[in-house]
Amino acid sequence: MTTSLQHKQIQHMEFKDKVVLITGSGSGIGRVAAQMFAKEGAKVVVSDVNAAGGEETVQSITAAGGSAIFLRADVSNFGEVEKLMNDIVSAYGRLDVAVNNAGVGNRYPQKTAEADIDDWDRVMAINTTGVFYCMKMEIQQMIKQGGGSIVNTSSIAGLRGLPNSLAYVASKHAVVGMTKTAAMEYARHKIRINAVCPVFTITPMFQPAVMDQISEGLSDKLKRGVPMKRFAQPSEMAEAMLWLASEKASFITGHALPVDGGLTA
Ligand SMILES: NC(=O)c1ccc[n+]([C@@H]2O[C@H](COP(=O)([O-])OP(=O)(O)OC[C@H]3O[C@@H](n4cnc5c(N)ncnc54)[C@H](O)[C@@H]3O)[C@@H](O)[C@H]2O)c1
Repeated sequence: MTTSLQHKQIQHMEFKDKVVLITGSGSGIGRVAAQMFAKEGAKVVVSDVNAAGGEETVQSITAAGGSAIFLRADVSNFGEVEKLMNDIVSAYGRLDVAVNNAGVGNRYPQKTAEADIDDWDRVMAINTTGVFYCMKMEIQQMIKQGGGSIVNTSSIAGLRGLPNSLAYVASKHAVVGMTKTAAMEYARHKIRINAVCPVFTITPMFQPAVMDQISEGLSDKLKRGVPMKRFAQPSEMAEAMLWLASEKASFITGHALPVDGGLTA
């Protein structure tokens, strides 16, 4: 028998039985977002190039009583993104929410005139072309089913310059541009498309100790630049993703939300 509190919790699950894809959820922000969507009742599709990380995320969700499967895909490969979408539709028949979160940093530090061509191509292929490929397929499915919600992971580097990070900055500005354009195109199809713009968040991608190896005191310098004087936790980014994806944000589309302790204020 369920208690009244349990009953209330069941009733209030924001994503009960919604099918939610999160790319790059084998680690960091994506993993925590996957866990939080699952806690809200979602059927989570964990996707990543890193199968071991992805399976670990799935295990953490199922161990906590949630629902998740892992589907491997490299977002920079269109054939793999197409297959990912076909497999999701075969498994669940629909896709309610997509969080296009897979991303990589550029080789650091590298000023513009010294930046590697190969590194530029790699970062753009994953961070920008990957988001395009995913949105292209997700939107096709969402039109068929009559709506959906997409959240892209950009960065504060999608809103302002960041020395030594040309490829990353270019790739994340492109994510904001694609978010705004697609949002305008598909609002009439009841598809909302937004972006979150995280500041420095402690994950395998951003580790203060690694920053300090590049240049002594760099992590402190970065922290001092954030008005709240601290780095972010992955759950703080995931909260914003869940809110933007949910019905609570029902009239918000084409927005790039900084989650940055005031850095871009
Ligand atoms: N951590 C930060 O400070 C920070 C700040 C701003 C934005 N972001 C963005 O947040 C997102 C998540 O980053 P994170 O900090 O959790 O990093 P992370 O490295 O922990 O996670 C990124 C995940 O993406 C996966 N991935 C990489 N290339 C892929 C590909 N081609 N196809 C599919 N998956 C791929 C990785 O395997 C990894 O599991 C990224 O888009 C990143 O640019 C992070």
